[in-house]
Amino acid sequence: MANPSCLRAAARNLSSSLFRNSTSRSARFVRHHSSSPASSVSADELSHFSGLASSWWDPMGPSRVLHLMNPLRHDFIAECLAESSPAPPRQLSPEKQNGSEASSEGLRYLDVGCGGGIFAESLARTIPLSRSSSSSVSPTNAASILAIDPSSTLIKIARDHARMDPAIFEHMRSGRFRYENTTVEALSEQSTEDTSSASSSSSPAAAADRTFDVITLFEVIEHVDPKTSPLTFLKHCLRLLRPGGWLIGSTIARTVPSYVVNKVVAEAPWPIGVVPRGTHEWSKFVNADELRGWVEEALMRAKDGTARRAGSEALQGMKWKCAGVVYIPGWGWKMVKGGEDWGNYFWALIHGSCARADNSLEKNVVVTIEACIRYIAIGP
Ligand SMILES: C[S@@+](CC[C@H](N)C(=O)[O-])C[C@H]1O[C@@H](n2cnc3c(N)ncnc32)[C@H](O)[C@@H]1O
Repeated sequence: MANPSCLRAAARNLSSSLFRNSTSRSARFVRHHSSSPASSVSADELSHFSGLASSWWDPMGPSRVLHLMNPLRHDFIAECLAESSPAPPRQLSPEKQNGSEASSEGLRYLDVGCGGGIFAESLARTIPLSRSSSSSVSPTNAASILAIDPSSTLIKIARDHARMDPAIFEHMRSGRFRYENTTVEALSEQSTEDTSSASSSSSPAAAADRTFDVITLFEVIEHVDPKTSPLTFLKHCLRLLRPGGWLIGSTIARTVPSYVVNKVVAEAPWPIGVVPRGTHEWSKFVNADELRGWVEEALMRAKDGTARRAGSEALQGMKWKCAGVVYIPGWGWKMVKGGEDWGNYFWALIHGSCARADNSLEKNVVVTIEACIRYIAIGP
C-alpha cells in the first residue's frame, strides 16, 4: 500500500503544477487580450468566466440562468426581425458567393462574448443544412454565425460541445458556423484596416464582407472593463454592423429591485442562489436609458472617436427597442414590456441608413484631401 505522506506530497505537487499552469494560462489570455489599450476585457472577469468553463453546459450548474433564458432570446430576435424591412441583398465578393459564407438569402450573425456557446449553438441549429427552395426559413433567418469570446478556455468548451451534434458539426465543417478566440476590438480594427484597403481598391463587396446583419451581445456589456467605457465597446460593435442591421442584447438595470434580485437572491448560498458569488458587480449594471444614450453617441461619433460628425443625421432610421424579462418560479422567464427597470431586460437597435452616408462622406473627404495634395505637389 502506498505511504499516505507520499500520496499527499504527490497530490500537493500535482495540484501546485496544475494551479501554476492554469494561472499562467490565465495570465497569458489577459496579456494577449489586454495588451491593446483599446481592449475592453477585464482580467478578473476573464478568470471568473474561464473558471466556470467545465460546468458551462450543465443545465443545473452556474450557467443555469443562461440556459433558461435562451429560448426567450430567440423570441426577441424574431420580434426584432419581424419589425425590420427585409434586408436588401448583400453584395458578396465572387469567391464567397460560391463558398461557405452566407449568400444574400440569409443573415450573417456575430455573437460577441459567446462564452461556452449556449446561445451561439442554439442559433447554429436554425441554419438550414441546405438553402434549397423547399426548406423553410427559420425566424432567425440565420445563414452564418461567427461567435467570439476573449476566453480561449470557453471557446474550447464551445467547440467541443458543438462537435457532438452532427448537424452543427457539418455547419462548422462548411464554415457557416465558426468560433473564434478574439475580441470585438480586434475584429473591428481588422475590419477598419480591410475597409480602408478595400476603398483604395474600390471594392465595396470586400468591405461588405466584413460586416454583419445581426450582432448579439447577451449578458456581456455589464462585464466589460470599467477602464474602457461601454461607449467605446459599443462603438466597435457598431462598426461591424451593416447599415440596416440589428444590434441585440440583454443586460441588467442598476436599480434597487435588480440589486435585490441579482445580488442578494441570485448570489445567495445554495439552494437559493442561482449564480456563483461575485458573478456580477452592481455598479457595472446598465440602465436602459443610459444604454440608449451610449448607443446613440456611438452612432454619432466618427471612426476616430471625435464627435465632429455628431448630429441627428447620424440617428436617422435608428430604432430602439427594449423589454423587461422576469423570472417567475415554476413558469420560467417571461418578457414584460415596460419592465426594463426591474432587473434583466432585452434591448435592440436597428442601425439606420446613415452609416452609408457616413462612409461616403469619409471617402469624399479622403478624395478631396488627395486632390489638394496632388495640386500642391504637381500643380493644376
Ligand atoms: C455571462 S457570460 C454570457 C455568455 C453568453 N453570451 C451567453 O449568454 O450564453 C459573459 C461572457 O462575456 C465574455 N466577456 C467578458 N468581457 C468581455 C468583453 N470585454 N468583450 C467580449 N466578451 C466579454 C466572458 O468571457 C463571458 O463568456
